[in-house]
Amino acid sequence: GSVGVVVVAAGSGSRLGAGVPKAFVRLHGRPLLAYAVDTVARLPHLRSVVVVAPLDHAAPRDAADPVWEGVELPSGAVVVAGGAERTDSVAAGLAAVDATCDVVLVHDAARCLTPLDVFERVVEAVRRGAAGAVPGLPVVDTVKSVDAEGVITGTPDRASLRAVQTPQGFRREVLATAYGSGLRATDDAALVERCGHHVVVVAGDPLAFKVTTPDDLERAERLLARAGR
Ligand code: CTP
Ligand code: MG
Repeated sequence: GSVGVVVVAAGSGSRLGAGVPKAFVRLHGRPLLAYAVDTVARLPHLRSVVVVAPLDHAAPRDAADPVWEGVELPSGAVVVAGGAERTDSVAAGLAAVDATCDVVLVHDAARCLTPLDVFERVVEAVRRGAAGAVPGLPVVDTVKSVDAEGVITGTPDRASLRAVQTPQGFRREVLATAYGSGLRATDDAALVERCGHHVVVVAGDPLAFKVTTPDDLERAERLLARAGR
């Protein structure tokens, strides 16, 4: 079976506040997106890569658009324009994935240092029969649920919690059907869960953290320097 990957890179990066969309912010001279795409390109059985870019930057081969400099798209990769919310961007990307792929991964460009083996674990779990698989890490803080007044309504057992990352992987037709259902959810796995499918958590990696704030960008810079990249 073959794998399609949607890399969502269409967000504005308002919390980073860098003046360019976050996926095009430079890390050691190359856009965050370039690191994510490099890893995706090394994935075995890769058939289809779709990058979802901000509308203003959705024409990568336009040499006049300098934001794409340093991004090496694998041959056959497609760029489509994203939408207002992440789910709109995923939907746009999903529509452009080669329909012969049986597994599709959705990955945040902002999780630019996610190691290849995280991708491989996700694909493997879907191949073994899960409708979906997401990388996750144990939660270190105690988590509370609260009501609108801030009164604590529950304390879930920490051992049963995972903080999830991307890439999130699914049988392609399961994700396509979930997106076609009209339901909405904050993450792709939640949407598929709501459609009644089993989604499993596989081991994530601290390096799959999402670059959200300037501190995160500094952390990514330090990690790259340490790795000699
Ligand atoms: N994303 C997207 N389309 C959107 C919103 C987000 O493709 N309309 C992508 C981002 O480019 C990012 C990933 O989804 O790779 C995770 O989103 P987030 O970290 O929230 O990125 P931004 O929305 O760009 O950042 P912010 O929320 O700070 O504006
Ligand atoms: Mg956002």
